[in-house]
Amino acid sequence: MNKFAIFGNPVVHSKSPDMHNAGFKCIDFNGIYQKHLIENGDTIKEIFLKENYKGANITVPHKEIAYEKADEVLGIAKKIKAVNTYINKDGKVIAYNTDAQGFLKAIEEFKDVKSVLVLGAGGTAKAIALALKENNIQVTVLNRSEGKLKFFKENDIKCFSWDDFQAKNYDLVVNSTSAGLKDDFLPYDKEKLKEILKNSSYAFDCVYGKTTPFLALAKEQNCKIKDGKDMLLYQGVLAFELFTEKKTDKNIVNIMKNNLK
Ligand SMILES: NC(=O)c1ccc[n+]([C@@H]2O[C@H](COP(=O)([O-])OP(=O)(O)OC[C@H]3O[C@@H](n4cnc5c(N)ncnc54)[C@H](OP(=O)(O)O)[C@@H]3O)[C@@H](O)[C@H]2O)c1
Repeated sequence: MNKFAIFGNPVVHSKSPDMHNAGFKCIDFNGIYQKHLIENGDTIKEIFLKENYKGANITVPHKEIAYEKADEVLGIAKKIKAVNTYINKDGKVIAYNTDAQGFLKAIEEFKDVKSVLVLGAGGTAKAIALALKENNIQVTVLNRSEGKLKFFKENDIKCFSWDDFQAKNYDLVVNSTSAGLKDDFLPYDKEKLKEILKNSSYAFDCVYGKTTPFLALAKEQNCKIKDGKDMLLYQGVLAFELFTEKKTDKNIVNIMKNNLK
C-alpha cells in the first residue's frame, strides 16, 4: 500500500484526504492518504522518510521549511521558495509547488485577464503573483504593511503598502489575505476597494466555502466572483498526478471535486 499524507498544524479540518482517497479509489490505485499533524517543521523530511510516505502535501505553517529541507526542488517552487508537495523518489525528497498552477487553472474561466491586483503578500500571494507573471499577466501586489514586500521587489513585481498605493484599472482583483477567513473584515479600505472593483470584471477570493465580505462587495460592483474551492481542487489534482504518475481526466477531477465538501 502506498502511503500519502497532508502535513500541517493544524490538519484536523483538511479536506485533502477525502479528495485524494476518492481519486485513488476511482483509478484503482493502491494508496491511502491521511492527516499527519507536524508540530515541529524541522522534522518534516525525517518524518516523511521514516514513515515511508510515497508522497505528501504540505500546508500552513510548513511550506517554507519544507522547501528548505527538500533534496531537490522543481519548477516554479524554486522561485517561490515554498512547497506544498513532496514525492519520495528512491529515498530522495523531491518538492513541488502546485498552488501556483492550481490558481491559474481556477481562474481559467475568467477571459482576457491582462492585469491583476493581488491583495496580500503572504505565501499564497507569492505563488499567485509569480504564476501570473510567468504567464505574462501584469501583476500588482498591495499589502497592509511593508514588511512582506521584499520578495516581490526582488522578483520585479510591482508592489505597494496601503500607505503608498495609487490604484489603476485591473481586470481581476484577488484576495489572498486572510481577511474574511475567520472574521468579517475587508482586505482593504471599503471605499477605495469599491472604486477598484467598480472598474474590474472579476474578483477571486482564496478563502473557500463562503461569500466573504470581499466577494460580497465585488458582487455589488457587478464583478463576476469566485471563491477558492477550485484552487484547492486543482492544486490537489496536480499533486495527485505527481503521486500516481498518471494524468487525470474530467471524471477523476469531478470525483475529487465532489469529495471536497
Ligand atoms: N484555496 C486555496 O487552495 C488556498 C491555498 C492557500 C491559502 N489559501 C487562503 O489564502 C489566505 C492567505 O494564506 P497565506 O498562507 O498566504 O497567509 P499568510 O502567509 O499568513 O499571509 C496573510 C496575508 O494577509 C494579510 N492580512 C491578514 N489579515 C488582514 C486584514 N485584516 N486586512 C488586510 N490584510 C490582512 C497579511 O498582511 P500583513 O503582512 O500586513 O500582516 C498578509 O499579507 C488564507 O485565507 C488561506 O486560507 C487558500
